[in-house]
Amino acid sequence: MKIAVIGTGYVGLVTGTCLAETGNNVICVDIIEEKVNKMKAGQLPIYEPGLDVLFHRNIAQNRLSFTTNLADAIKDAEIIFMALPTPPGGDGAADLSYILGAAKDISKLITDYKVIVNKSTVPVGTADKVAAVFAENTSVEVDVVSNPEFLREGVAVDDFMKPDRVVIGTRSERARKLMGELYAPYVRQGNPIYYMDERSSELTKYAANSFLATKITFMNEIANLCEIVGADVDAVRKGIGSDDRIGKRFLFPGIGYGGSCFPKDVQALEKAAVEHNYDFKILKAVMDVNEKQKTILFDKLQAYYKGDLKGKKFALWGLAFKPETDDIREAPALYIINELLNAGAEVVAFDPEAMGNVKVLLGDKIKYASTQYEALEGADALLIATEWSLFRNPDFEKMESILKNKVIFDGRNLFDLQKMIDLGYYYNSIGRKI
Ligand code: UGA
Repeated sequence: MKIAVIGTGYVGLVTGTCLAETGNNVICVDIIEEKVNKMKAGQLPIYEPGLDVLFHRNIAQNRLSFTTNLADAIKDAEIIFMALPTPPGGDGAADLSYILGAAKDISKLITDYKVIVNKSTVPVGTADKVAAVFAENTSVEVDVVSNPEFLREGVAVDDFMKPDRVVIGTRSERARKLMGELYAPYVRQGNPIYYMDERSSELTKYAANSFLATKITFMNEIANLCEIVGADVDAVRKGIGSDDRIGKRFLFPGIGYGGSCFPKDVQALEKAAVEHNYDFKILKAVMDVNEKQKTILFDKLQAYYKGDLKGKKFALWGLAFKPETDDIREAPALYIINELLNAGAEVVAFDPEAMGNVKVLLGDKIKYASTQYEALEGADALLIATEWSLFRNPDFEKMESILKNKVIFDGRNLFDLQKMIDLGYYYNSIGRKI
């Protein structure tokens, strides 16, 4: 099939590349000329494991191309994906101006039937709004479909190529057939495609992310309670996760969820509920608890150093909001850095992928180490904010010889508690005994 993808951000680029991989002809459009030129020259603008191989292969085989010219991209396309940003507006509700603007531009260019797909996370009712833009500007027939993405950064290629499910929101038979054909190669193992109306599909995406954010937040609260009552959250996590109804995944406590999706989507769903005069109490609590959870590591430091952090030097392992990404949007590490700098402490950070992005944001407010061990030089303590595999099995003897004190504050529970006790470390983690 001939496909156009509007927007080459994280979702658009993964979607376009993975759609080309099954033999479709995909043209990706972006308004940023410099980015498009780089992609034309074979340079990937994001770090995502496995994406580079597919990206280069499909460019080489002429199935994947890039342009800034919307008219060229959509001329022959049967399906047009919109993967555009929906940032929180001033009131926290999703800002639809990019999507509605693109819909208007497309509507003025098309001359034959198109399926218009909303890939972005958009509030309930957006498909109707997009359809209205087309109705206003053209008499050419279109179907507007909601097709939310469930890609996790770090494993997005796998999530696209072998999805747990595909959700397609449309009441049009014609669009349903085309979308079903497009996704058929991705669900060969038997995973389902769920067809539903546009509004249910739009809400499915928000409900999924908000439910997962709630699950994590619940565990963060259980972890906090564990510390107070002297229980071990790892044991509790295993104890409940083995019940199929609860499930083992997304039960890991930490220093709050971050990233470009959960914080934005929970907030947007809560705002949408307010607009419909519904008081979504759980979501308000989730947001409150998550804000508080982001302070946990800093609060623990304050307590340990009795409020005196001035002049202390901290090594920080991990800047990205989670492993296998260079994304630092809403990363808990940034919160901790900010608090430490305000308290007059010094931070030396190491992250395998995200240091470039942090340098752009923070410049020389903190120091950057070239290895995880270099970050420890002269440090009063080590703080861990991201669970990169690299950090899971470090050389503790080497660490001991470099660190000023054997003190670790671990926001991701990377190490075995007993091992740390045996090694003689002061080891403060989340929801476990000190
Ligand atoms: C999330 C969803 O998992 C995807 O399904 C969805 O498509 C995507 O948002 C999106 O809307 O685009 P992502 O933000 O990439 O994906 O990352 P996750 O792996 O879901 O992690 C989100 C946050 O939760 C991270 O800060 C992570 O550290 C935290 N988390 C996750 C925990 O604190 N504990 C856990 O057990 C799991």
